[in-house]
Amino acid sequence: MKAIVVTDEAAGTAGMKLVERPEPKAASNDVVVQVHASGFTPGELTWPGTWTDRLGRDRTPSIPGHEVAGVVSALGYGTRGLSVGQRVFGLADWTRDGTLAEYVAVEARNLAPLPGDIDFTVGASLPISGLTAWQGLFVHGRFQAGQSVLVHGSAGGVGSMVTQLAREAGAYVIGTGRAADRQTALDFGAQEFVDLDNDSLEDVGGVDLVFDVIGGDIGKRSAGLVRAGGMLVTIAGPPEAQPAEGLAIDFVVEADRAQLGEIVQRVRDGRLRTNIGNVAALDDAVAAFNPTERIKGKTIIRVRP
Ligand SMILES: NC(=O)c1ccc[n+]([C@@H]2O[C@H](COP(=O)([O-])OP(=O)(O)OC[C@H]3O[C@@H](n4cnc5c(N)ncnc54)[C@H](OP(=O)(O)O)[C@@H]3O)[C@@H](O)[C@H]2O)c1
Repeated sequence: MKAIVVTDEAAGTAGMKLVERPEPKAASNDVVVQVHASGFTPGELTWPGTWTDRLGRDRTPSIPGHEVAGVVSALGYGTRGLSVGQRVFGLADWTRDGTLAEYVAVEARNLAPLPGDIDFTVGASLPISGLTAWQGLFVHGRFQAGQSVLVHGSAGGVGSMVTQLAREAGAYVIGTGRAADRQTALDFGAQEFVDLDNDSLEDVGGVDLVFDVIGGDIGKRSAGLVRAGGMLVTIAGPPEAQPAEGLAIDFVVEADRAQLGEIVQRVRDGRLRTNIGNVAALDDAVAAFNPTERIKGKTIIRVRP
């Protein structure tokens, strides 16, 4: 099969290569998915699981990409819940070969059925950003209707999902990002926007929940904005400051079939819009991940036309 591989962390996306690799086999509780569309997050080249297996052994050249939409082509021994020929989408395992390939082996529990009226390209754009937003707001953030939410990077992959889900659930949403992202953030449903390069973050005053995708100085200063009893939820690594009278939590997204179902249902009925900036073929994936100009939104690789 055709696949994109990486061998060198320092080379980043410029080190990606299109090669021929053997098709994966389904282990116990796995399915093999014939990949129709794949999502890749640039940050994954810094994750240890991209380079080693669970025991820390080198597994390069490895296939990146952890979001998938496709069709089940084989089942491993004992695999339940999914069947051959079924349309699925979800998260590929962190420490195994990923989805920038014609086939991928994934634990069945990490996938959910993809309804027939949802395009594979859309399906592949949802798992990481959708699940991260859902879990940060409703599981870790314990969001309640009527609360105010400050969403950093609200025009980006995760932030645009957080903004939409929070609004639907009854939040007052203040988005942040670069000056050029203002209209995009407002279009996704933010009621106010803070341009982090030119406005003062501190002018926001107090909020019930901060959803931080940026970290560093922005994360530190955000801790001071959390009201008593509120939460700073971050996906950008351990928080460098704690809210005085609230909680800070960092987490890593996990696969969840029921949550994927909630997310895709919202896309079907128009409550949730995905944030795709570019779609490219597998043959053009290396160029697509090394763009010469800034792409707004996610790059999705359409593996089967
Ligand atoms: N822990 C987890 O489970 C988890 C899950 C998903 C993602 N992540 C991580 O979360 C981060 C965000 O992911 P994403 O997919 O949402 O990325 P993304 O689509 O690039 O969105 C990030 C947004 O924040 C903006 N931004 C970043 N730094 C900024 C700054 N200093 N000032 C103003 N705006 C800034 C970006 O603008 P520019 O594009 O102009 O920089 C972009 O609009 C990544 O680092 C990713 O690896 C973690």
